[in-house]
Amino acid sequence: MHITILGGAGFLGRKVAARLAAEGALGGCRISSLTLFDLAAPPQPDGATFPVHSLAGDLAELPPAAIPPGTDVVFHLAAVVSSAAEADYELGRRVNVRGTDAVIDACRRLAAPPRLVFTSSVASFSGGQDAVLADDARQVPANSYGAQKAAAELFLADASRRGMLDAVLIRLPTVIVRPGRPNKAASSFVSAILREPLLGLPASLPVPDDFAVWVCSPRRAVEWLLHAAAMDTATMGLDRGINPPGISATVGQMLEALDSVRPGASALVERRPDPAVAAIVGGWPAAFAPVRARPLGFTAHESLAELVQAFIDDDLEDTRRERNAG
Ligand SMILES: NC(=O)c1ccc[n+]([C@@H]2O[C@H](COP(=O)([O-])OP(=O)(O)OC[C@H]3O[C@@H](n4cnc5c(N)ncnc54)[C@H](O)[C@@H]3O)[C@@H](O)[C@H]2O)c1
Repeated sequence: MHITILGGAGFLGRKVAARLAAEGALGGCRISSLTLFDLAAPPQPDGATFPVHSLAGDLAELPPAAIPPGTDVVFHLAAVVSSAAEADYELGRRVNVRGTDAVIDACRRLAAPPRLVFTSSVASFSGGQDAVLADDARQVPANSYGAQKAAAELFLADASRRGMLDAVLIRLPTVIVRPGRPNKAASSFVSAILREPLLGLPASLPVPDDFAVWVCSPRRAVEWLLHAAAMDTATMGLDRGINPPGISATVGQMLEALDSVRPGASALVERRPDPAVAAIVGGWPAAFAPVRARPLGFTAHESLAELVQAFIDDDLEDTRRERNAG
């Protein structure tokens, strides 16, 4: 099995690559090669027993080697994320819309349609704090990033219907705890209020404590992406979008979970309202009622305390090292 990860140097791309390297197989099929593509050549995952080709380039000018002949699975994770796409309209459209178009064209050139796993987002919906969205809720985005993700979903679903690829489109919740440094996502604070105190550093909270967010852990997100790459899509029909079973949690509940794992840590979180951030994340739905995902095999979420503990186990030391080095 030949696999490509577009956005292979990113947070989730690295984690998917690490899992593939550790397991050597996907859905019971042995992995023969892995191609990693990003703006800068992605790092090699440790311990791979198959060849890993690391490639630098621009998604919108996708080089043929990014999705080489014989590719069976494409993880399309490359994107300009929320605040960055809102701040730079041209860049967001170029990467998130035209880049996705380039991915469809590359898949069309293959002799056999590959499985295409796309990371869409909770940001493709709106509804705000009172929303609990059903699987068939309309995507009415409240920002350019969400609109670009929803548009990409439509193009990919149509390409799937035409037999050019076999798409599974996962609308990821906000994935926490993100390791490393704060990034340009509007939701960056949701990770920061857990990560920074665990590093002994202060963090700002731009929204009230009762503000709820639809979240999932990196472990669960990777699990869902790997499942999407190997599952039987025959029963999905035309609807290739999946609202996975994340969890809805208030900021206050997250800080309680933090304190349950590391007592007193939440004292480092400072309440500092930020209307610009609140305006973006305040438009995203705070909860979903996913029904379809479970029978399709997408696993249920763990508790918030387990999510915090998983960050400590998986990413805290590397984050500390990276931050000290910078
Ligand atoms: N992390 C989250 O909370 C979250 C939530 C919902 C959806 N998603 C989606 O999941 C995917 C992965 O998210 P992430 O958190 O790993 O993001 P990330 O920013 O860490 O990774 C995205 C990668 O895309 C690359 N990229 C950007 N422009 C590119 C271009 N022109 N050509 C090639 N590569 C380019 C970046 O360099 C980066 O490495 C993204 O599509 C994101 O929109 C993430």
